Amino acid sequence: MKRLGATDICEENMTDKEQMNIVIVGHVDHGKSTVIGRLLADTGTLPQGKLEFVKQMCLKNAKPFEYAFLLDALKDEQSQGITIDTARSFFKTKKRDYIIIDAPGHIEFLKNMITGAARAEAALLVIDAKEGIKENSRRHGYLLSMLGIKQVAILVNKMDLVDFSEEVFEALKKEYTTFLNKIDVRDVDFIPISAREGDNLVTLSGNMRWYSGMTVLSKLDNFVHEAPDEQKSFRFPVQDIYKFTREEDDRRIIAGTIAAGSIGIGDNVLFLPSRKNSRIKSIESFNTEKKEMASAGEAVGFTLETQLYIRSGELMVLENSSHLPKIGNRFKANIFWVGRAPMIMDKTYKLKLAATRASVRLVEVKQSLDASELTTVNTKKQVDRHDVAECVFETAKPIAFDTIEDLEATGRFVIVDNYEIAGGGIVIENIQENESILKQHIKDRENIWDKGFIDTIEREKRNKHKSKFVVFVGVENAAKQSIAKQLERELFDKDHNVYYMGLSSIDHGLDADIKSYDLNMEEKVRRLGELARILTDTGLIFITTIDNADDYDIEILKLLSEPNEISVVSVGESGLVKFKPDLEIKEVSNTEEAVKKVINLLMHKEVILEYYL
Ligand code: GTP
Ligand code: MG
Repeated sequence: MKRLGATDICEENMTDKEQMNIVIVGHVDHGKSTVIGRLLADTGTLPQGKLEFVKQMCLKNAKPFEYAFLLDALKDEQSQGITIDTARSFFKTKKRDYIIIDAPGHIEFLKNMITGAARAEAALLVIDAKEGIKENSRRHGYLLSMLGIKQVAILVNKMDLVDFSEEVFEALKKEYTTFLNKIDVRDVDFIPISAREGDNLVTLSGNMRWYSGMTVLSKLDNFVHEAPDEQKSFRFPVQDIYKFTREEDDRRIIAGTIAAGSIGIGDNVLFLPSRKNSRIKSIESFNTEKKEMASAGEAVGFTLETQLYIRSGELMVLENSSHLPKIGNRFKANIFWVGRAPMIMDKTYKLKLAATRASVRLVEVKQSLDASELTTVNTKKQVDRHDVAECVFETAKPIAFDTIEDLEATGRFVIVDNYEIAGGGIVIENIQENESILKQHIKDRENIWDKGFIDTIEREKRNKHKSKFVVFVGVENAAKQSIAKQLERELFDKDHNVYYMGLSSIDHGLDADIKSYDLNMEEKVRRLGELARILTDTGLIFITTIDNADDYDIEILKLLSEPNEISVVSVGESGLVKFKPDLEIKEVSNTEEAVKKVINLLMHKEVILEYYL
């Protein structure tokens, strides 16, 4: 066994040196754990005597020693004080600290690999020289490229089993390079190693004098570390909004973990997709001094200089940023599907992207391939289990996101089907929609609408008024409801055909899988819109109130009410950014006054004709 030069070993403990996450992948039994064990042992990461101890234990139990055992033996010690999951190990070189993630090779665990690899900057892919390229060797190679991991080294392992043959190595290299080129991965280094014997891991091997490239360790140190997260564009996915509990304190704390960049008190911020803006007043964090600045990785809360009503799931960014996220409801993405049921077009799934939760539909499968066979199929209309596919997705409401190239934290997502993560993906491109699924739905709906003999004019004549969907919006306040209900009362007393129903009434029968607040809201708005379409068709003046509605909610309601029209009345602060309400009642001194204003609006719009108060 070769000895390690003292200069290669870093003596200190984990420091605030540069840190790099790498993932190790490969077919079952090709030697991932052995590579890791070996790296731990040969970089001096192991505590004194650990290697001998494990070897002794093996001897005692008449069990052949495996470097892989070191991983288990170390688990307790390495996890002290640091939260780690079982798949990670640490080792260090002079240059930097490494966290190596062991992604299981079994197909069933591929979805773990999506999340495991998601946090890696570089990858080692292990192929057994004797067994050659296997199903997972290809699958994992494709996945790495799909996940946007550009720095990859291929370790051709167990060279001792093929007599350290250059021919075997070259043949395998050629075959796998052809494959990599097909999936557009280039410039990948191949290193012949024997993990068990320690050849070419840390020092160049005497057994393979024909090889003069880099060792695994020097290759790792050669990987380029991307800019630290705190230097990237600022992204803060809003996880929660807390209200201060003290009375008369209507401040709110906007809480979450900074995904990228940094921010300070006084910075102007923009919330997306709602486009609301404000300025940072304070940075609150648990158990620490008051902060002036906060950056990537920190879990913090912000208070704002103006009172804003936003929902969790919004993305807070710096207003003057030159790299704003995209906002849209269509995007192209690469996904890997692990769901038991295939992903199909006519179904709504749940998308999780940073803190955003949205319902999402598959619009188009551009191309899909079986990750192991790599047979490209362009005609498929669904994404089957273990397919890697380039697809177009559409969310019900616009969301804020980045492409994976721009920013990884907000360019990655998972898709949930039936409570389970069924797929993972990365956003490739923002797509301008031409015909949204919603618009198509409305067209289809109107086409099949089965009308009776009575037309709108007849109903208007009978009712002596037109139908209308009147929506009261604004930040949470009690005045809205009273005005809306009083409006119903007064119109009713004048023999108008009118009906009030609050948004919460629609909760009934909402599916169990859409209980999360945002999806619930999305679904409520959708149902309300469909309902409004029917009720206004009956000739009714249908009145509702929605707390904290945003521009997109109104847009969706408008579309769903078509061909009937809606009138929007805001009470207090509207909470809308671009959308201009038909009537704005800023201050409510008395309900009667406010109701009168709404009635005037309805008269002005000729919904109600002669009206004597
Ligand atoms: P899974 O975690 O089950 O996917 O396997 P793995 O990829 O982690 O493989 P592991 O490191 O456990 O190695 C599998 C077997 O291959 C073990 O018995 C190792 O001793 C053996 N092995 C690993 N590297 C070498 C090598 O360089 N030469 C030889 N001859 N055997 C090796
Ligand atoms: Mg293993």
